Amino acid sequence: MIAREAIPAPAGMLAELTHRCPLGCPYCSNPLELEKPASELDKATWKRVFSEAAEAGVLHVHLSGGEPCVRADIAELTAHCADVGLYTNLITSGVGLNRKLFDALVEARLDHIQLSLQDAEAASADRIAGYDGAFARKQEIAHWTVEAGLPLTINAVMHRANIARAARMVELAIELGARRVEVAHTQYYGWGLVNRAALMPSREETEIAVAAVEALRKKHDGVIVIDHVVPDYHARYPKACMSGWARRTFNVTPSGKVLPCHAAETIPGLEFWNVREKSVAEIWYGSPAFNAYRGVEWMKEPCRSCDRREIDFGGCRCQALALTGDACNTDPICEKSPLHAEIGSIAAIDAATGAQDYRYRRMNARA
Ligand code: SF4
Ligand code: FES
Repeated sequence: MIAREAIPAPAGMLAELTHRCPLGCPYCSNPLELEKPASELDKATWKRVFSEAAEAGVLHVHLSGGEPCVRADIAELTAHCADVGLYTNLITSGVGLNRKLFDALVEARLDHIQLSLQDAEAASADRIAGYDGAFARKQEIAHWTVEAGLPLTINAVMHRANIARAARMVELAIELGARRVEVAHTQYYGWGLVNRAALMPSREETEIAVAAVEALRKKHDGVIVIDHVVPDYHARYPKACMSGWARRTFNVTPSGKVLPCHAAETIPGLEFWNVREKSVAEIWYGSPAFNAYRGVEWMKEPCRSCDRREIDFGGCRCQALALTGDACNTDPICEKSPLHAEIGSIAAIDAATGAQDYRYRRMNARA
């Protein structure tokens, strides 16, 4: 186990305030087993958690969900974060926001809004979201955000149904006045894994989209920042998931479980601690789940002796588990993994199915 002095302080926190959401996106990063509203932390506990996070070194907090705006106390929680010096980013579908609440959030000193966009065409966007009228609603929220002088990031998750319009989504983000757009290809665990056959684009579609987005990055340099999370299944090396396990950030679930990443509960045998019983600092430094894959000691070959082991940290633990059955294995997205060749075949087979039907992630909330 790594000595406490060698563990850097956490920099960021993702607060999943609730799993309730009016949308049903089939690639949602929430777990398959959604946490019930009755188990959600109350306002006082969230405030304590934010105070403890700031004391532990956290600089920015992502107020997320589900849809965080279905919490009646969202503005008060935002104001508390500002009081304790945390930079706040609201990650929203936009569908949970009305004008009164929006103004209350501005009043509460919200720093930033990150708005999801399912497609650049209304009918397709609403189908992907599983919610009629979501696309139109988002345009309005983007407009309010820019008008209020808040920085706006558009979040665009790419998959088969929208990949032909990847470039159009970047252009739409510019038209909406966003300062940043995150074009992220679907990650296949949790809901994404369940819906993989209906989401996976072909290699050809992927290559066209990646090239188009990269061309726009050059064209719009200085106008908008384009963060491009390239598609895993067609890559040679994996991403440094979470910038390395328990190195920079942590997630708190609606019921208070603290996770190193949003999919960590898919890994069997990990012991997660809860903010109801322990402080943020105690959990960050001492939680068995956090220490399970910290650093490089846990690695097997080929990662253990690889010169990229402190660049990508062996990829994603949750994906290694989902695809190889062992979270300690090299993420098979890596070409050095003995299972790498199978990844290309899985992607090709899924892309060729032409499956259309989504299993929507549903825990309805009033919009
Ligand atoms: Fe990264 Fe492991 Fe592949 Fe090396 S072998 S590139 S550390 S995933
Ligand atoms: Fe869990 Fe990548 S999602 S480590």
